[in-house]
Amino acid sequence: MLWGGGFSAPPAEVLRRFNDSFSFDRALIAEDVAGSIAWATELGKSGVLPAKDVKALVAGLRAIAKEHEDGSLPEGGHEDIHSYVETRLYEKVGAVAGKLHTGRSRNDQVATDVRLYVKNALVEARALTLTLVEALATLALREAATAMPGYTHLKRAVPVTLGHWANAYAEMLLRDVDRFATSLERANECPLGSGALAGTPLAIDRQRLAASLGFARATANSLDGVSDRDAAADYLYASTMLLSHLSRLSEDLILWNSDELAFVGLPDALATGSSRMPQKKNPDVLELVRGHAGRAIGELTGLLAVLKGIPLAYDKDLQLDKEPLFRMRATLSLALAALTPLIAGLIVHRDAMKTAASDDRLLTTELADALAARGVPFREAHEIAGKRIAQALAEGKSLKALGTSDVIRAADLEAVDVAKALARRTTFGGTAPALVARSAKALLAKTKSLRRKA
Ligand code: ARG
Repeated sequence: MLWGGGFSAPPAEVLRRFNDSFSFDRALIAEDVAGSIAWATELGKSGVLPAKDVKALVAGLRAIAKEHEDGSLPEGGHEDIHSYVETRLYEKVGAVAGKLHTGRSRNDQVATDVRLYVKNALVEARALTLTLVEALATLALREAATAMPGYTHLKRAVPVTLGHWANAYAEMLLRDVDRFATSLERANECPLGSGALAGTPLAIDRQRLAASLGFARATANSLDGVSDRDAAADYLYASTMLLSHLSRLSEDLILWNSDELAFVGLPDALATGSSRMPQKKNPDVLELVRGHAGRAIGELTGLLAVLKGIPLAYDKDLQLDKEPLFRMRATLSLALAALTPLIAGLIVHRDAMKTAASDDRLLTTELADALAARGVPFREAHEIAGKRIAQALAEGKSLKALGTSDVIRAADLEAVDVAKALARRTTFGGTAPALVARSAKALLAKTKSLRRKA
């Protein structure tokens, strides 16, 4: 019991059940022990505790860390991970355990644990996302010239390449990678030494303490230090944005995997079957990613709502910062680990894509462009081509089969061709196969260099 001194009655059972966080913050054991080792060591370096006490504390804490390396902790009976570690430390080293909390509060302790956890989660998310970017860019390189219909409003628009599609998601995900990296820069400050809220009277060196835990610097204000959860919110936002991108990617692939489009198939190992309908191969992985994106928005808005109204400094509301973090990390690690081999093993039905991309509707813009290129004002060219495609569709004929007219020349009809349409999109950022291949290579080089920077 950490705080019973001034109380005349023990905590009610219902208080314990409502107040205790051990059932979930036990996941912070590694961070909590690391923070305590750093704190004990700094108490020694700054002359607050004698070396022999520090030695005993550190040895006891190391033993606790080792004992739980496999993650096995008792089920309950402790208020939180901090009281658990302290109790266990008493069992291991005796009364000297009571010196560990000198000048420290659970407020700066838990803020430090959460920072350490978020930093690890950001590093992990960044690495997993980079791996998926590589899978997408590799797909893009392989399918740089694979024609498929490009859509707006989910209506056939103009042809694009499958590689261009894959590169589009790689670009989005690189922005997510950047969000994880910049979040990490901001999270890289250590609140330990902020005390309960006002700082600590001990002559410790907070910068040295921060550095010993791998932080870039100490937080600059103790009130802010114990109550700031921006890093948690940053992580949830960056993750939610990533999942939102992955949800769009999933939705595209779910559509393409439908029997109606059949542009792609999924590798068997990453598709699911039906207990009733033997023919089914379902895209559950993609549907779960889409669903998780929705839940992630809830996690983010939930935490923001918890944070917005709490008076300085620490309030118990802050205890609720942890479960969303834990759930998000579990979700991201599985979602990214499943999507990466799914993209790498995606079965592309190139003929179906090409047939769909050869639909005259996707090439009507080429006809208008051809007219405009020889001086017909584009608005007139648009009208002429529009009338022509309407006629073609009404008569069930192709644009080429309708042939020339008083305004449409044979040379204009030459432009009505998928490969030509693709090859013409050569301005920076366009879908021309040569550009797509170049972009894919640049993306692969970029991921490589970002990985080295990590
Ligand atoms: N379990 C608490 C949390 O997660 C630890 C901090 C408790 N601090 C306090 N003043 N009661 O926030």
